[in-house]
Amino acid sequence: MDLEHFVCSLPKAELHVHIEGTLEPEMMFELARRNGVALPWKSVEETRAAYAFTDLQSFLDLYYAGAAALIHERDFFELALAYFERAHADGVVHAELFFDPQTHTARGVAFATVVDGLERACAEAQVRWGISSRLILCFLRHLSEDEGFATLEQALPQLARIHGVGLDSSERGHPPAKFARLFARCRELGLHIVAHAGEEGPPAYIVDALDVLKVERIDHGVRCAEDPALVERLVREQVALTVCPLSNVKLCVFPDLAQHNLKRLLEAGLKVTINSDDPAYFGGYIARNFIDTARALGLSRAQLKRIARNSLEASFVPESLRTPWL
Ligand code: HPA
Ligand code: ZN
Repeated sequence: MDLEHFVCSLPKAELHVHIEGTLEPEMMFELARRNGVALPWKSVEETRAAYAFTDLQSFLDLYYAGAAALIHERDFFELALAYFERAHADGVVHAELFFDPQTHTARGVAFATVVDGLERACAEAQVRWGISSRLILCFLRHLSEDEGFATLEQALPQLARIHGVGLDSSERGHPPAKFARLFARCRELGLHIVAHAGEEGPPAYIVDALDVLKVERIDHGVRCAEDPALVERLVREQVALTVCPLSNVKLCVFPDLAQHNLKRLLEAGLKVTINSDDPAYFGGYIARNFIDTARALGLSRAQLKRIARNSLEASFVPESLRTPWL
């Protein structure tokens, strides 16, 4: 079997995908036209040409500009359904979607509008493709903890539909500890906890995420390699890392895929998974991430199977609800 077919035939979970980051320029323009929203680009081609990032912030500026095209429940539904269709083709059997409500509520979109649309797509994906899913609310770390609390307040009536919380946006200068009280409250509410850490930020942010926020998985986490004691701990505790190789190259965390540390982390015994992050911006969905990384680093098929299996094991589906793919 060739590599493409092998990768797509592996049952896998996607644990790190920002649903706003799956907004392809074609859909962005269609929604902007339908909703009467002005975009900073003149065409789909000009938009794609602007996707030359130098770091995380240079990406986030465009990502938030693009998300402005999303206004109505139907927009969020269509966005997520298009993602699920691609994910299904890539062999995804379960997806845990990040969404950034503060990006939308700041523009006057109601919190419930976002969740209604996403949840309707999740239900449709289960029926059409048998994909199970979960929603993870991400707090924007460049905003204050108080703004995070205000968002949690808006989320309370929707909490049965939200399974976890995460932390994303600009990492440098915004350590996880800034959100200690907010995440303590989220834990009391019984939510699963994750956080982006060690993408651009130092290994100390990963330690913070573990000790202060008490995360169950680390999103990215690739800079753990700079702290051998931390690597040892992550191996011992089998904390999953949701690594996003194409994202890391696009945002200049590594100069190219051949220099990515994923294989080294995997061979050190870390619970590594492969994910797409913001596939519309970074040049590929989950299967592309698996294939390009396998080729660049020479991952064996047994290693690819291990990575897919790690993703299923690290999902937030409780043991009692797990389907035969586990
Ligand atoms: N890092 C931090 N915040 C984000 C990302 C990312 O890769 N994608 C969307 N928000
Ligand atoms: Zn991310």
